[in-house]
Amino acid sequence: MSLWKCEVCGYVAEGAEAPEKCPKCGVSADRFSLIDEATAEKIYRSDKTNDLHMQLIHLAMKLDGVACAGIEDNLDPGCVHVFELAKQYAWEIKQMAKAELAGHIAKGKY
Ligand SMILES: [Fe+2]
Repeated sequence: MSLWKCEVCGYVAEGAEAPEKCPKCGVSADRFSLIDEATAEKIYRSDKTNDLHMQLIHLAMKLDGVACAGIEDNLDPGCVHVFELAKQYAWEIKQMAKAELAGHIAKGKY
C-alpha cells in the first residue's frame, strides 16, 4: 500500500494509486505525489502516537470542564484551590500535546 500526498492541501491518502479526487480539497489525482518509503514509514510510526496525543487533549478538555464546574460550585477555598490547579494542569497538558503534534506535522510525521 502506498501513501499519496495532495500538494494543494496536504491530505495524505492510502492506496495503490492516487485518489481520483482529493477528499479534502477536491483537486484531481495529478495533484498528488507519491510519498517515499522512509517518509511513509515515519507517518505510519507516528500515527498511533498522534492519536494518543489527541486522546490526551480530549481528556484535558474534560478535566478543564470538571475543574470549571468545581470552581463554580465554590464549596470552600480548599476545594476551589484544587479545581484551579486542575484547570491549570489541564491547560498545560493540552498545550504540551498540541506542541508535540505541531512538531510531528512540521517533520512530516502525520
Ligand atoms: Fe487536497
